[in-house]
Amino acid sequence: MCGISAYIGHREAYPIVINGLKRLEYRGYDSSGIMMYDGEKMYLTKTKGKVSDLEFITNQEEERKAGNIGMGHTRWATHGVPNDVNSHPHYSQSGELVIVHNGIIENYDTIKKELITRGYTFKSDTDTEVLINLIEEVKKTEGCKLGKAVQLALTNVVGAYAITVFDKAKPNEIVVARLGSPIAIGVGEDNKEFFVASDASPFLEYTKNAIYLEDEEMAIIKLGKEVRVRKIKDDSLVDPIIQELQISLEQIEKGGYDHFMLKEIHEQPKAITDTFRGRMLAEENMIKMGSIEDNLDKFLNADRIIIIACGTSWHAGLVGEYLIEDMARIPVEVEYASEFRYRNPIVTSKDVVIAISQSGETADTLAAIKLAKSKGAFVYGVCNVVGSSIARETHSGAYTHAGPEIGVASTKAFTTQITVLTLIALKLGKANGSLSDDSFKNYIQKMSLIPKQIEKLLEIDEHVKSIAAVYKDATNCLYLGRGFNFPVALEGALKLKEISYIHAEGYPAAEMKHGPIALIDENMPIFVIATNKGHYEKVVSNIQEIKSRAGKIIAIVTEGDTQVRDIADHVIEVPDTEEALTPLLTTIPLQLLSYHIAVMLNKNVDQPRNLAKSVTVE
Ligand code: AGP
Repeated sequence: MCGISAYIGHREAYPIVINGLKRLEYRGYDSSGIMMYDGEKMYLTKTKGKVSDLEFITNQEEERKAGNIGMGHTRWATHGVPNDVNSHPHYSQSGELVIVHNGIIENYDTIKKELITRGYTFKSDTDTEVLINLIEEVKKTEGCKLGKAVQLALTNVVGAYAITVFDKAKPNEIVVARLGSPIAIGVGEDNKEFFVASDASPFLEYTKNAIYLEDEEMAIIKLGKEVRVRKIKDDSLVDPIIQELQISLEQIEKGGYDHFMLKEIHEQPKAITDTFRGRMLAEENMIKMGSIEDNLDKFLNADRIIIIACGTSWHAGLVGEYLIEDMARIPVEVEYASEFRYRNPIVTSKDVVIAISQSGETADTLAAIKLAKSKGAFVYGVCNVVGSSIARETHSGAYTHAGPEIGVASTKAFTTQITVLTLIALKLGKANGSLSDDSFKNYIQKMSLIPKQIEKLLEIDEHVKSIAAVYKDATNCLYLGRGFNFPVALEGALKLKEISYIHAEGYPAAEMKHGPIALIDENMPIFVIATNKGHYEKVVSNIQEIKSRAGKIIAIVTEGDTQVRDIADHVIEVPDTEEALTPLLTTIPLQLLSYHIAVMLNKNVDQPRNLAKSVTVE
């Protein structure tokens, strides 16, 4: 996600755009930039770092802040590491057009190659610079205005975008377009001024009248005139709906949710879709991951794969172990990075290390990577922050496209990490023949259903909330799972611990009889993942053992389950899918449960005590 903030009207644009970017930093903050037009010249200022770093530069030269037209951008990098040249806005080759963009242009490489044959050169590694030059090329060859050029250019684009485009030759207008990324237009009194932003927070104090573009719509904004909205695919006119906003600034930043954590739980369908977008090609029945293809021999000939990570990322790594061994039959070990780095591990050049980290800055994981590299291993990273230290330290890797995760308790990072690990396991299994074509095809088909299944699953929120109310005062909880869901039991326990401060432990369900069962009495809630896959009957036996000791059982079951329903105190149903994919679903109710318990206990959900979003110290 990135943040867009633009203004055209009678006021000084700079303070409006800059303050708007600051309100959008929750959407991305690795670099930022602003274009100001003073009626004659365009000034472009951009830098790696936060909006405050941008302000420091613009404050050095007044002309960088002059004018009634401005476009700004705060970036969450997806293509091209965060640095000055990759920051937005981007100029076209002629210097006449300028763009800010939120989203991913999937076919940018093909378009870029074509533009190069037509004499275009590029300064940055971004897909955005390709898009503005495509628009310029269309404008030139068609001899049309900016609005028409944008419309024609976008009919050749595959991916997701929210863009704002300005043409120096037509300084009284701005063109906006949307597909898959939000964009709002603030409409000033008598159309004397307009605001454009990724959400309404930058302009709510100036106007409550807003037009939210729908997917595949574009708008031509001209001072003094009504906004004209068109369909991108056929240029047909659409009647714009001007809404009068009734929400607060704080609600907007959290997308209308009470906390970032809840917002991010609900963002998981989109985050998972964005993570497999362009990689899992269901129609072609293939998985395209250049970082794996380029190193396939290393993975397939490895003595073993060692997964290193911390916290929730370590839990994702455990799911990865089950996935890769099951699908690709390659030996996998999972290590706490904090242990691995100090225990003088045996690592050779025949080992492949996968380092998993949301922030890409976790000190223990970074140190473990350096140790593995020093011993000759090939190190592959799975990170959520483009250009982060771990992303740069590893030999290769794949990004999760979860977008910024603000809540300290990791949610969408976990499910997108599992998504990447699933793609890797499927790709390796297909490559070394461990996975039949039918199995491979079936997994891709089932994986493509997961985002919609999570959308539907999130509707159980009220039911989970009612269970949270029953157990919010517990002092100890147990989480049990088997197979692919053993790591989910660990993750569920961590979620509860870190935001509600209730002690909880995750265990393999079969381990109960080796000690923990002594803990069980009528005061102990036990959350059991009992989906109808794998060793279902064994889990049912575990539940009966608990029941006979008066433990309170909250079971996560597959939709339609009746057997567990008859013995558990509460059941939460999740949709059916392949056993290997169930963690993507069984995690969701446990995230919601810990969230609601923490809220009921009035805890600081987004910034729990003693914790930091990224543990950059040892
Ligand atoms: C999980 O909810 C915690 N925030 C924490 O365990 C986190 O997963 C761990 O610190 C690893 O962080 P990373 O993924 O950024 O490396």
